[in-house]
Amino acid sequence: MERMLSAIKPTGQLTLGNYIGALKNFVKYQDDYELYVFVANLHCITVFQEPSELKKNLKDAIALYLAAGLNPDKCTIFLQTDVKEHAELGYIMACNTYMGELNRMTQFKEKMQKKETALTAGLYTYPCLMAADILLYDADYVPVGEDQKQHVELTRDIAIRFNNRYGETFTLPQALVAKVGKRIMSLNDPTKKMSKSEGNDKGCIYLLDDLNVARKKIMSAVTDSYNELKIDHEKQPGLYNLFEIYSSLSGIDPKELLLKHKGQGYGEFKKAVADCVVDELAKLQERYRQIVDSSIVEDVLQNGAQKAQAVARKKLNKVERKIGINIHKRS
Ligand code: TYM
Repeated sequence: MERMLSAIKPTGQLTLGNYIGALKNFVKYQDDYELYVFVANLHCITVFQEPSELKKNLKDAIALYLAAGLNPDKCTIFLQTDVKEHAELGYIMACNTYMGELNRMTQFKEKMQKKETALTAGLYTYPCLMAADILLYDADYVPVGEDQKQHVELTRDIAIRFNNRYGETFTLPQALVAKVGKRIMSLNDPTKKMSKSEGNDKGCIYLLDDLNVARKKIMSAVTDSYNELKIDHEKQPGLYNLFEIYSSLSGIDPKELLLKHKGQGYGEFKKAVADCVVDELAKLQERYRQIVDSSIVEDVLQNGAQKAQAVARKKLNKVERKIGINIHKRS
């Protein structure tokens, strides 16, 4: 069975973008791949997080993984820091990555261009840690939203370089980006990605949003003045985004949805999208509530850490031997 690995970094609550672009797909893939999914808590702290809030968001993220349908009997679910090998291999990867490569990473470049201050060294080198996350498990595929594709490609470049220098060590991973829902946009500015760090709650639906609040966000989503339902990314980006959300959640092709709603006004169409979103969130939140305060989360994390660590330890030992830093006879 081919291996697949992915993660989410819950700096804040998980969003509908995370759900559509990532989490929902993980659930779909768990039957056909050997899947490893973790919560990237080390990645979270590249930007300051209030500790008690972070703790809650991390626990919520695991509960939401399970509520969304990830099954610990089918896949391995864990917390990044429960497998210390990530940090060590992350450092080794940083020693095999050039600053020129990191300077080209769009996410970091954008932050530099916006002249954001207090950018940490951890944020700058975070693609190296992400490379370690992936390469430790010899993942063949990494399902991600479009914004993370570049980091998976860098991981591949680092792996190729490492294999050339030290001999065959890592499997070369490939990003898997879904056709529909790869980039969900902000509801009140469809030129920007829907994101928790956008500092704009109206444009972003959180998975744990009150259902009425979520409905209102969809109903007040920015559209256009054409007043005709069409799927046109260039001219009607707001509407296009609503079609993407609707199609991803319903599993119905956007063109079919267009036929179904042809002739309707934007208000009526938005109501259909809102019904679909609210329906999905209601089911998710119901399951989340059953999970979050039970002992399930702790049990899942303990088992997941054990399974993941066994794989990671073996790989890190191999890497240490290859690069010559391990001088023990046996390890
Ligand atoms: P993060 O936490 O920013 O996002 C988690 C996943 O959600 C996707 N995503 C979106 N997809 C569509 N539309 C959106 N608006 C949207 N917002 C987020 C992201 O593309 C991603 O797939 N560095 C990663 C976490 C990570 C990781 C890894 C991922 C750490 N190690 C190893 C894969 C493999 C991150 O910050 O994702």
